[in-house]
Amino acid sequence: MTASLRPQPRAGVLKIDAYVPGKSDAPGAERVFKLSSNETPLGPSPKAIAAYRAVADHLHDYPDGAATALRETIGRVFGLDPARIACGAGSDELINLLADGYLTDGDEAIHTTHGFLMYPIAILGSGATPVVAPETNFTASVDAILERVSSRTKIVFLANPNNPTGTYVPFDEIKRLHRELPPQVLLVIDAAYAEYVRRNDYEAGIELVATNENVVMLRTFSKIHGLAAVRLGWLYGPLHVVDALNRIRGPFNVNTPAMMAGIAAVEDSAHIERSRAHNDRWLPWLAEEIRKLGLTVTPSVANFVLIHFPEAKGRTAADADAFLTKRGLVLRRVSAYKLPNALRMTVGTEEANRLVVAALAEFLGKTH
Ligand SMILES: Cc1ncc(COP(=O)(O)O)c(C=O)c1O
Repeated sequence: MTASLRPQPRAGVLKIDAYVPGKSDAPGAERVFKLSSNETPLGPSPKAIAAYRAVADHLHDYPDGAATALRETIGRVFGLDPARIACGAGSDELINLLADGYLTDGDEAIHTTHGFLMYPIAILGSGATPVVAPETNFTASVDAILERVSSRTKIVFLANPNNPTGTYVPFDEIKRLHRELPPQVLLVIDAAYAEYVRRNDYEAGIELVATNENVVMLRTFSKIHGLAAVRLGWLYGPLHVVDALNRIRGPFNVNTPAMMAGIAAVEDSAHIERSRAHNDRWLPWLAEEIRKLGLTVTPSVANFVLIHFPEAKGRTAADADAFLTKRGLVLRRVSAYKLPNALRMTVGTEEANRLVVAALAEFLGKTH
C-alpha cells in the first residue's frame, strides 16, 4: 500500500522531532548521578511522599476532575483566585492544551531560538507554524519577538527563566513585550524555574496575568517540588482561557496521587526554602569553578548551568559528555536546542557537583 492510502496525521506532525528526554543511565559506571533533567537533588518534601502513599488505598476511585483541593491550596499559597487556575499532567500538557485550544492550520506562534523544545512540538502538532525569534547572548530579546509578530500570530511562548540557557528577561521587559503585543495574541510565560530566581528585577508574571485578558503563567511541580514522576503542573490565567482549557482537557487529566502530593509540596515552605538555599550555594559555585577551568558558562538564574565547550577535537561537548558519562556523571546534550557545543548540567548534590568539576578538570587536562 502506498503511503498516501494510509491514514495521515496533520502535515505538521511529521515535521516534529520527538522530544528526547535527558539520559538516566551510564553503562558501566558504578554510581550514576543524573544531572540531565533539572530535577532537584533534595527530592520531594517527605510530606508529599506521605500524601502520595496515603492514596494507595483509594486507587479504585476516579480523581476529582476539577482538582478543587489542589487549586484551592495553590490559590491560598499564592493569593490567587482558584477559578483562574487550571491543572495539568505536567506543564507539558498545559503547553499542548494551549496550542490545541488556540492554534490552527495557518496560524503562527513565536518562540525563541533556544527556547524550551515543547513549544515547537506543540505548535507543529496543532497545525500552526513555529516562528523563531533570535536571542541575544543566549537571552530572549523582546524586540526580536515583537518584530516577528504578524497578523497570523496567535501565541508567544516564553520560558522565563529559559531552559536550557538559564537566562531571564527582567519584568520591565516582559511588561513591555505585553504592552506592545496585539491584544488578541496570547502571551504564555512559562515560569517553571521561578522559585530558584534571586533577582530583584524578576517576576514570574502573576501581576500581569491578574490584570490582563491575554497572559497566562505556567508553573510546574517537577522542578523545585521534586515531583517530576507524578506529572503535575498548573496555569494561572484569565477566566476565559481557563474555561477554554477545561473544555478540551481530559476530564481526569490530573491523578489523585499527584494532586495529594502537590498539595503537601506547595504547603511545605520549609522544604522549598531548603531547596532554594541549596541552589543558592551551588549554582554560583559551579559557575565559578567551571569558568576557572577555562570554559564559558552562561550566567544562570535557574537550577542548571549551560557549559560551552571548544570546537577542538577531543575537547567538544560530545567528547566531554562521553568522558563524564563513563564516570557516571550524566549531563544533557543540547544539540536539539541549537547548542551542539554545550552541555547543560543540573545543580546536583554537593558530591555530584564536586565530581563533575573534578572530572571536567581531568577532561581538560588541568590539575584541580
Ligand atoms: C521551561 C520548561 N517548561 C516546562 C517544562 C515541563 O515541565 P513538566 O514536568 O511540568 O511537564 C520544563 C521541563 O523541563 C521546562 O524546562
